[in-house]
Amino acid sequence: MNITNVKVTEVGPRDGFQSEKTILKTEDKISIINDLIVAGFPRIEVSSFVSPKAIPQLADAEMILSGVNRSSTTTLAALVPNARGALRAVEANLDEIVVFLSASESHNKKNVNRSVNESLVGFGEIADIAGKNNIPVQGDIATAFGCPFEGNISTKSLADISKEYKSMGFKGVTLGDTTGMATPPVVADAIKAIRDKVPDLGITLHFHNTRGVGLANVMSGLYQGITDYESCFGGMGGCPFAPNATGNICSEDLIYLLHEMGIETGIDLDKLISIAQKVEGLVGHKLPGQVMRAGHRLLSYSMDDVPTAIGA
Ligand code: COA
Ligand code: ZN
Repeated sequence: MNITNVKVTEVGPRDGFQSEKTILKTEDKISIINDLIVAGFPRIEVSSFVSPKAIPQLADAEMILSGVNRSSTTTLAALVPNARGALRAVEANLDEIVVFLSASESHNKKNVNRSVNESLVGFGEIADIAGKNNIPVQGDIATAFGCPFEGNISTKSLADISKEYKSMGFKGVTLGDTTGMATPPVVADAIKAIRDKVPDLGITLHFHNTRGVGLANVMSGLYQGITDYESCFGGMGGCPFAPNATGNICSEDLIYLLHEMGIETGIDLDKLISIAQKVEGLVGHKLPGQVMRAGHRLLSYSMDDVPTAIGA
């Protein structure tokens, strides 16, 4: 496979917190983001500059940006749906704008109340604002590996949208598996179609573990040479405007896998486990992450800690 380094984006403060019924306190979010920066994440999605009516959980995006300890080694990114969001992002001194649409018309309508074409036209306005302010733009495609309303997504549409992104000067495309419909061969086909049409556009993969094959999909991406992934602490996450949207692939589980494969991420796994445990305390319910509970594989226990099976 020959991959020695992978860039992992933590999307918890955006994808994770948007999916929680409880709205976390701004100061707690800031503290978590500061911890993520110290843990070594090169990129964090910190919030969304969307309508607070759509996602009230992220209504404090400006306060988050002004409250966190900026670091030259961590890019702070956020979702932006329209020109209004782009102006808010500029004002908040955001490092990177992430625009998003869904490959399927029906999910795009649910999520941003417009057609895919209307989204693309709107991205032109966002790109202008970003360009004038020297802010790079990343383009997400949600429901890239399947839509809960429309089923399979054609790889041609992924390639066509990616080409539009490239022509608008975006730095790369992120393929989002909104409701966990990706499987390893579906991932490989999507990557191939985009590379064939837009060979020089970077691809990032964003999986949800809805059907338990999230890390298998990462393996598929790695075998295709993809070195950019997105994940969420504790395996939280999900889009409120898609049925059965469950958590992202879990950051600790992903980092554990990558490190065990000899792939560097620059992220301190112990610090990340502590962050996931802290978030679990803040949201007040069990998170699906596994490494945050089991720890490293060579963690050793005292034999006195477990009973001995004697007799029946
Ligand atoms: N920031 C803050 N407020 C915004 C906004 C933005 N970027 N864009 C729109 N609004 C406000 C408008 O001012 C308006 O408020 P009002 O009712 O008080 O006048 C309201 O939101 C609706 O605006 P409108 O332009 O008519 O948009 P819409 O109702 O068609 O909704 C979106 C479109 C894109 C703004 C909305 O669907 C949205 O924010 N979606 C985000 C979904 C999301 O983040 N999903 C999770 C990620 S996968
Ligand atoms: Zn997601």
